[in-house]
Amino acid sequence: MHELINSLQQYHHEKAHVLSQIDSLVLEIGKREQSARTELRALLESFHSGAESAHHHNEELILLELRKTAVPIHRLIENISEEHAAFHRILGRLNARVVDSSISCEVVSSDIIWFARQYDEHATAEETIFFPAADNALSSDAWSRVEKAWRR
Ligand SMILES: [Fe+2]
Ligand SMILES: [Fe+2]
Repeated sequence: MHELINSLQQYHHEKAHVLSQIDSLVLEIGKREQSARTELRALLESFHSGAESAHHHNEELILLELRKTAVPIHRLIENISEEHAAFHRILGRLNARVVDSSISCEVVSSDIIWFARQYDEHATAEETIFFPAADNALSSDAWSRVEKAWRR
């Protein structure tokens, strides 16, 4: 895979680790409510960060170049930009809700589990469909354009 794709995969790998920490903490939320909520908020913040925005921006640069090729765009990849925008909105709300004690543990837990599942499905589609397609189809000129606009 192209080195830029490798760096996106590395980011996914780090995020998968955070998602597994989130999964374990969600189980704790009923037992030690306030501290678990605070820890969950800190983990969720990393999905609503400058690094997350840069990751989305960089994937969208690659998608833009992929759209210029003759390669058909898979339906799961067609909407990744909309999904990125949706994740940003969802996380903004979720980060406020997770520490709002007027919202029950059950509701907060199910919101977080739902988000984690959506994010995991999104990243899996990128890993299995989008990245291999881009790696095969993008020319070195296309990669140069991507690299120029890449956010580090
Ligand atoms: Fe993405
Ligand atoms: Fe991604």
